[in-house]
Amino acid sequence: MLETLSQILASESPRASITVRGWVRTKRDSKSCSFLELTDGSCFKGLQGVVDAGLPCAELLPRILTGTSVEVVGALIDSPAPGQKWEVQVHDLKILGEADASYPLQKKGHTPEFLRTIAHLRPRTNLFGSVFRVRSKMAFAVHRFFQERGFFHVHTPIITSSDCEGAGEMFRVTTQKPNVPTKPEEDFFGRPTYLTVSGQLQGEAFACALGNIYTFGPTFRAENSNTARHAAEFWMIEPEMAFYDLFADMTLAEENVRYLVQAMMSECPDELEFFNKFVDKALISRLQQTLDKPFERISYSEAVELLLKSGRSFEHPVVWGEGLQTEHERFLAEEHVQGPVTIYNYPKAIKPFYMRQNDDERTVAAMDLLVPGIGEIIGGSQREERLDRLTTAMNAQGLDEETYRWYVDLRRYGSVPHAGYGMGFERLLMFVTGVSNIRDVVAFARTPGHAPY
Ligand code: 4AD
Ligand code: MG
Repeated sequence: MLETLSQILASESPRASITVRGWVRTKRDSKSCSFLELTDGSCFKGLQGVVDAGLPCAELLPRILTGTSVEVVGALIDSPAPGQKWEVQVHDLKILGEADASYPLQKKGHTPEFLRTIAHLRPRTNLFGSVFRVRSKMAFAVHRFFQERGFFHVHTPIITSSDCEGAGEMFRVTTQKPNVPTKPEEDFFGRPTYLTVSGQLQGEAFACALGNIYTFGPTFRAENSNTARHAAEFWMIEPEMAFYDLFADMTLAEENVRYLVQAMMSECPDELEFFNKFVDKALISRLQQTLDKPFERISYSEAVELLLKSGRSFEHPVVWGEGLQTEHERFLAEEHVQGPVTIYNYPKAIKPFYMRQNDDERTVAAMDLLVPGIGEIIGGSQREERLDRLTTAMNAQGLDEETYRWYVDLRRYGSVPHAGYGMGFERLLMFVTGVSNIRDVVAFARTPGHAPY
């Protein structure tokens, strides 16, 4: 494998010869030499190359502009410049690919909104390079968290015939031609199929066989929510645990968030410092607090009381039995608790059919974990494991018995109490980076009216 800049920068002592392959961020000329700021994307830091004006390769310098890709051979030496340990005294230089003055990333300080229009080039900026290095580290940490606890990774289907959330916000998958009337049974799968909104239902089948499992994959929602927290295609982490009740579920969710925050703090220090300086000045202190302070838990009914007593005039009125709006969630997390908080036991009428009914007959064993700045980052529940209760709830919500027969079978044969949750991976990334728009933590974002690339 070729050596990356991140490996070169980890060198303990000077080296007579190294090779750097990367892109030129900036070039500065003085009388006797030129300075090239080189990056290869493997780490936050770059490496300064010093090219002596007397070298034969110096004649290439006029053709080297911002964005040019180069291969540089030279000696790794202690840098006299402040803020950097190493620099490379260039011996030889090759241009791999030129970039002319039309290269859009000439200067720093482009807005994220502009950079969204060049999503194919923005990973080369400090901000997006950092976001996507963190995204990769966090994805690996997600697997580590569950694998260290003995969970099995299950690959649930992307194409499905069941609507897990029952909200009908699904993208249809079909080979039928538009404007040619055909019956669903003549379609590719012989029935209507969709992109999955959640791997939960299939995850439950595996939890009721392997015990503790998780899925981590893309999910799709055709909801017309043009907000900074909603994407039509996003990744979800969904653990499902046999024999867990709601409280064990909440404990795991809290541990999960803490573990990932800890991973961010210890594995991405350069990116964290950058985000704290240029994206959100309260980031490090907020993440540190997340590790130091226990998460709070408040029942939905208590939360409604708190909101009513707050004296706030919310845009959406607070009424027991209605869903909590973002403004309510943010009040609870940012002002009341000033940290992560889990709200649990929601009204039955606003939640999907699979949630376990509580003895009070009006609430279900649901939970949402809210964090400051974002609101809901996790939604989960204990599942209804009692056959009669489940079928009653399904009938009440008008679900097709045939489609969900397999799901009901899980209650017919060796049913066990079980619970799980879904963590929005992008919302987690927003929380650990301070980036405030979901479009900026997705490589190529899909939102209503927007799917280039
Ligand atoms: O609350 P949700 O809809 O829950 C489920 O889908 C359950 N089946 C999960 C489970 O119990 N296994 O979604 C879970 C999380 C939300 O808390 C949020 O973080 C994220 O997924 N999410 C979205 N993220 C980005 N864009 C969207 N449109 C999202 N919708 C949900
Ligand atoms: Mg939810």
